[in-house]
Amino acid sequence: MGKALIIGAGGVGSVVAHKCVQNPDVFEEICIASRTKSKCDALKQKLDGGRTKIQTAQVDADNTQEVIDLINAFKPDIVINVALPYQDLTIMDACLATKTDYLDTANYEPPDNPKFEYKWQWAYKERFEEAGITAILGCGFDPGVTGVFTAYAQKHYFDEIHYIDILDANAGDHGYPFATNFNPEINIREITAKGSYWENGKWIETEPLEIKKTYNFPEIGEMDIYLIHHEEIESLAKNIKGVKRIRFWMTFSEKYLTHLRVLQNVGMTSIEPIEFQGMKIQPLQFLKAVLPDPATLGPRTKGKTNIGCIFQGVKDGKPRTYYVYNVCDHQECYREVGSQAVSYTAGVPAMIGAMMVLTGKWKKPGVFNVEEFDPDPFMDALNRYGLPWKESFSPELID
Ligand SMILES: NC(=O)c1ccc[n+]([C@@H]2O[C@H](COP(=O)([O-])OP(=O)(O)OC[C@H]3O[C@@H](n4cnc5c(N)ncnc54)[C@H](OP(=O)(O)O)[C@@H]3O)[C@@H](O)[C@H]2O)c1
Repeated sequence: MGKALIIGAGGVGSVVAHKCVQNPDVFEEICIASRTKSKCDALKQKLDGGRTKIQTAQVDADNTQEVIDLINAFKPDIVINVALPYQDLTIMDACLATKTDYLDTANYEPPDNPKFEYKWQWAYKERFEEAGITAILGCGFDPGVTGVFTAYAQKHYFDEIHYIDILDANAGDHGYPFATNFNPEINIREITAKGSYWENGKWIETEPLEIKKTYNFPEIGEMDIYLIHHEEIESLAKNIKGVKRIRFWMTFSEKYLTHLRVLQNVGMTSIEPIEFQGMKIQPLQFLKAVLPDPATLGPRTKGKTNIGCIFQGVKDGKPRTYYVYNVCDHQECYREVGSQAVSYTAGVPAMIGAMMVLTGKWKKPGVFNVEEFDPDPFMDALNRYGLPWKESFSPELID
């Protein structure tokens, strides 16, 4: 049916490639391209032998012309961007220049300013409309499936959703004293930033990790949850009419936070370049080089993740509560694709989103967040491709 260019061969890129190859009717050909070509070649070697034809390429996606040249050479129907958020705009520019559909899993943030927001990418809307191509933003798990869950709740269970709590729990243990489950630089920038939530039409800002509660997660048990800023709050506030409050909660263990506090206190999480032995280095990038590569955590990580959304609102004049979530087992993911659940839960939805575009179910000109499409075919595909979801109409609520 189609050809996909996958840019990025890290934890998430590896899962996307595995899942495309499991779905050869849709992904007849893929090209895995990244800055370090050897990682792409290693993936090809592992995945070759099925019906999906696989190519690899070296590309610096910070350079729009290099991406344009690669697109012109491979002629994909869609570019799946699972490099880093810093490359979103250069890759979108290349898609515009070549009239190619686009999908990513994380919104753009400038490398020198750890503030991610959609304004840069939403600004492409008219140009994508004029070019007649589709861009799907934030199609991992969160953002991604959380937006699909919201569209599904809105379509089937609510006249109006008033409160949304998004809960991201990871009860996995990799056995290291400190490691991040996805790109450490992106992960630490996210957690050390101020928190915020949306209430009554405006942002309420909190100090980093200021608001802490506990939640008893199905299949995982009780964990500490912290309110943090997260990108889907911004798009859901725009797209879900009548919503009064949206909050995002993530679990962190005391051990993780203690390490993080020390690293912050000694300046290792700073993005301000410092002089070191005659060169400028960014402490956070140096820390990334020292920490375990998230792509290597797969064999060591045991336990489960649980990510989902709790909705409160009204249906037919009566109050209603609805919780929809996925539980994912780190070891099962590793057995299937050689990655832990954090990469798996982000990579599977990226493949499904690309499949929605290639099969014409989610194809219209412009720049969209996932909650703007029909959630039903995506929800079916989650069940088929490894992320089955469960629902409850009387969940524990977060006060
Ligand atoms: N929505 C979600 O649920 C979700 C969850 C997790 C992650 N994510 C997002 O997924 C993306 C990938 O995360 P990850 O954990 O897979 O990160 P990762 O393991 O660090 O992999 C990033 C990949 O991008 C490549 N890359 C970086 N800069 C590049 C450039 N200029 N040109 C070409 N390739 C480049 C890297 O190449 P090298 O090997 O040369 O460094 C690497 O292959 C991130 O944007 C992350 O925020 C989304």
